[in-house]
Amino acid sequence: WAIYAPYVRAINALKKERNAVILGHNYMTPEIYHGVSDFVGDSLQLAIKASEVEEDVIVQAGVHFMAETSKILSPGKTVLMPDMDAGCSLAESITAEGIDEMRAKYPGAPVVSYVNTTAEVKAASDICCTSSNALQIVNAMESDTVIMTPDQYLAQNVANESHKNVVYWPGSCIVHEQYTAQDLRDFREWNPGTRLIAHPECPPDVVAEADYSGSTSGIIKYVHDEKPEKAMLITECSMASNIADELPEVDFVGPCNMCPYMKKITLEKILYALHTMEGQVEVAEDVAEKARKSVQAMIDLSR
Ligand code: 13P
Ligand code: SF4
Repeated sequence: WAIYAPYVRAINALKKERNAVILGHNYMTPEIYHGVSDFVGDSLQLAIKASEVEEDVIVQAGVHFMAETSKILSPGKTVLMPDMDAGCSLAESITAEGIDEMRAKYPGAPVVSYVNTTAEVKAASDICCTSSNALQIVNAMESDTVIMTPDQYLAQNVANESHKNVVYWPGSCIVHEQYTAQDLRDFREWNPGTRLIAHPECPPDVVAEADYSGSTSGIIKYVHDEKPEKAMLITECSMASNIADELPEVDFVGPCNMCPYMKKITLEKILYALHTMEGQVEVAEDVAEKARKSVQAMIDLSR
């Protein structure tokens, strides 16, 4: 902590001066998650919080699509992205033309797009979803066939629990696609008694091998409620680091996978953004207006 303390102090002081709030995703490193974030959560919680922020400035400690979502929901606020290159393999896998392609292939089917998409893709979709409400949103669609983009694995995991005919775009998360069902069987053999907890961006056979699957906040809640002796979080590495101190009775066993995009966000870059007010995220109002409808429809259905 000693090396982080001067940054944490400087950021927290500057936050007051700028009337800023830092929204941190659960995949941020512990010094960001515990040291400077005013609010931490999963994608849905961060989106809802962004719509309620009273401060003038939102610093998005997360990836670019999250900052766009904040700007869409809070157009009057200044939204700062500490590193504009903090992207997402899912968001990069599809454009608005991809949505048109899917609509042409499945006429009349509604498009449910994961929030891990650009503002343009959200604008071209009917409604958004996150990993915590995907099943609920898909089941709420009137049509029997539902198009899900861009995460093929989230879509397949939803399809396994839904009565809908879910068709999907072939995108994937570079963190979660790496896990295999054999990995989980090996982990169990090497660490008997370990609770395996997977994010639904993992392939369906991985989710089937796990004891629980849920969004990042779902995972945190599960570990808090269950307090297993040993737990392996089949997701991004910072998750276990962020909650390990609160749960000394749980032994978090590795390995885990790192998200190179999330890890682009550092204390130094947050301090720089607050100091210079550079890295402001803008979304063209015509795009934002349509995208807002998709995100708001999701929030309304999730309450
Ligand atoms: P959630 O926090 O909504 O589960 O999403 C995980 C993720 O990969 C965000 O990039
Ligand atoms: Fe995208 Fe996966 Fe990284 Fe989340 S963990 S930002 S879904 S690449």
